Amino acid sequence: MNVLVVGRGGREHAICDKFSKDPSVARVFCAPGNAGIAAIAECVDISEGDQEALLQFAKDQVVNLTVIGPEQPLSEGLADTFNREGLLVFGPSQKASAIEGSKAFAKELMKKYSIPTAAYETFTDFNEAKRYIHEQGAPIVIKADGLAAGKGVVVALTEEEALQAAEDMLAGAKFGASSSKIVVEEFLDGEEFSFMCLVHHDRIIPLELAQDHKRAYDGDEGPNTGGMGAYSPVAHLPEGVSDVAMDAIIKPVVQAMIEEDRSFTGVLYAGLILTEDGPKVIEFNARFGDPETQVVLPRLKSDLAELLVNLLTDQPVNAEWIEETVLGVVVAADGYPGSYQKEISLESVLTAEVTLYHAGTKKEGGLIVSDGGRVLLAAASGMTAQQAGEKVYAALGGTDTTGLFYRRDIGWKAGYKGK
Ligand code: AMP
Ligand code: GLY
Repeated sequence: MNVLVVGRGGREHAICDKFSKDPSVARVFCAPGNAGIAAIAECVDISEGDQEALLQFAKDQVVNLTVIGPEQPLSEGLADTFNREGLLVFGPSQKASAIEGSKAFAKELMKKYSIPTAAYETFTDFNEAKRYIHEQGAPIVIKADGLAAGKGVVVALTEEEALQAAEDMLAGAKFGASSSKIVVEEFLDGEEFSFMCLVHHDRIIPLELAQDHKRAYDGDEGPNTGGMGAYSPVAHLPEGVSDVAMDAIIKPVVQAMIEEDRSFTGVLYAGLILTEDGPKVIEFNARFGDPETQVVLPRLKSDLAELLVNLLTDQPVNAEWIEETVLGVVVAADGYPGSYQKEISLESVLTAEVTLYHAGTKKEGGLIVSDGGRVLLAAASGMTAQQAGEKVYAALGGTDTTGLFYRRDIGWKAGYKGK
């Protein structure tokens, strides 16, 4: 079959890479893709937001399956457009993608259906938020309601920090309309992990667990980012935790979405914290995680395209996994997640002898240069996180990363102790 992937990041590179290895796939298209994706798929110059052009392209090229990577086109209704024309698409409707697009919606849903999550209140008025923050005290978490590329969250350790964040978002419109409403929630203490499931109405295929590293710098210091590195599996979590999360969280939320007339199709990503009272939801995403996808999909033995088509057409499905650990380290532009330079030379780092997923890259005069904050993800597999980490860091260590930075401690909770 012919498949189309919509998006241009490391996640889409990993999806295209998997499709390119699937026996059931003839041609892989990516719109618009990036310099790395161009090496394994046919990139087409259509942006994620151009629904009409994407639809026409899918029809012209007889695309059998479309996978939508990022949240933005989902929340604009791209899956609805494809569904209306009878094209097979893996991604939630606009209504269903609200589970990611509006944190307030997700929180209300969880409250209504008793899905375990942090206690919270929503605010549009700074003075009311201020009163609540005083009442609750720190640590406390302040979140922009709308989409903010993983950066709209402040885990405030002091009241002052919390008030500053609330003021920046509400009064200062730090994230524009996305932060005209904020969620103020209870700080959850425990081990964080990512649980992605392939969902179609009431059918659910769990993927293997992964752990991301949200903070910019070593030792989990610095600002929150979209994710600085990840690995899968998460061997140090207690056994059976995904079964518990499936019963307490995933199944109830999938059912809740059906009852709310927002039936979900696509990747339901649950960001969870394992508290003393069991797993609780930090956030839902309506799509594959980035960088989690880059470490989970390489472990999938089964044909992904076939799996998705079977899921979407109510055929039997079965996912098989490779036991090995895959560990990936994000290489970012200096300054990320704040302001950063583009068009940094990648000549040296691209020689690293390890799997490289391109996140923000482009071709400029025959050379590949950086084109975003998160630039590349370097990944390797091994029997343990230590083995996989050694390969990645040895490969990166031999290259010139001027203008770029990466964390040196990805996988530390899983036992990676350095080279
Ligand atoms: P989010 O964008 O909601 O995933 O939040 C970004 C990061 O902030 C998460 O990955 C957590 O590390 C942290 N975080 C968010 N909410 C909470 C919470 N209620 N308690 C503790 N940490 C949180
Ligand atoms: N890595 C977190 C996310 O994809 O939102």
